[in-house]
Amino acid sequence: MGKIILTGDRPTGRLHLGHYVGSLKRRVELQNSGEFEKIFIMIADAQALTDNFDNPDKIRDNIIEVALDYLSVGLDPAKTNMFIQSVVTELTELTFYYANLVTVSRLERNPTVKTEIKMRNFETSIPVGFFTYPISQASDITAFKATTVPVGEDQLPMIEQTREIVRKFNTTYNADVLVEPDALIPTNQICSRLPGTDGKAKMSKSLGNCIYLSDPEDVVKQKVMSMFTDPDHIQINDPGKVEGNAVFTYLDAFATDEDFAEFLPDYKNLDEMKEHYRRGGLGDVKCKKLLLNVINKELAPIRARRKEFEKDIPAVYEILRKGTEVARAEAAQTLSEVKAAMRINYFDDAALIQGQQEKFNS
Ligand code: TRP
Repeated sequence: MGKIILTGDRPTGRLHLGHYVGSLKRRVELQNSGEFEKIFIMIADAQALTDNFDNPDKIRDNIIEVALDYLSVGLDPAKTNMFIQSVVTELTELTFYYANLVTVSRLERNPTVKTEIKMRNFETSIPVGFFTYPISQASDITAFKATTVPVGEDQLPMIEQTREIVRKFNTTYNADVLVEPDALIPTNQICSRLPGTDGKAKMSKSLGNCIYLSDPEDVVKQKVMSMFTDPDHIQINDPGKVEGNAVFTYLDAFATDEDFAEFLPDYKNLDEMKEHYRRGGLGDVKCKKLLLNVINKELAPIRARRKEFEKDIPAVYEILRKGTEVARAEAAQTLSEVKAAMRINYFDDAALIQGQQEKFNS
């Protein structure tokens, strides 16, 4: 059987450069590699509601933002099914059955859930929907028999939990229905966690330290020019620190040798530039200008595509509708196999009714 990708994002905001280097760019490469038989990318609105149930309009408005971000980075509806989670109701049904295979203490041990509970101040009172979302995520993955789940490192516990559910299901029902997925995490350390423009550990909407894929050029300029660097690098001639300096971390993530030839031929490559910065004599503004050029070069085609798609928003919803239809058919097929394995497919099983008749006859 061919390899199948399933992954997704919660539609709680526009996607930013952290998403781009951490996952979106890779997804486009995977899409274009021709290695995958099917690719499903899901806008996880139902999961987003598990901790935003009181703010459905936020989710509603961000579905189109995320879809536009997907299309503008180069995800292609001809190759990739983009769909909306909640419309595929089979996923909810699977979740209910998988819930029988998972214990409360196992959910409590899920490190990602643990961190999120702290982050959201849910300690004293955890909504059940939120608590059980790893089970729903297992449904997302297994409904498509995904072999490959490209995600950030923070999602590894979810994949592990999914694998356990798959094994438990297949052994409990003596079936070979569900497929154990593998996570595909970023190979490059910097890309797996791009810091915010303020130098903090992570780009995050709530910290206000993101550069969004949909930010116009002037906004990106303002954000880059006010980025965190090395607070001890006060005079140009002071020696500077590259480690923990967000500008250099971003250059690590984005700048190529060709970028130096194009924008800053004083240096052959980033190593030479870092060397000069460490020695002293290289100012932050020059570094930021290079970074701005590099980011704009990366964002230019993304912006151009977004502009085109923004002209016809109904067509974008239509892409999602079609993708969702395909996803639903796929999930319905798995659900019917699941129900057959669980022996709850009563009306689809003529032998059952016949067999019951015989039992009562004898
Ligand atoms: N939990 C993921 C996130 O927060 C989103 C998601 C939902 C997902 N279902 C998934 C990712 C299934 C991979 C596979 O980003």
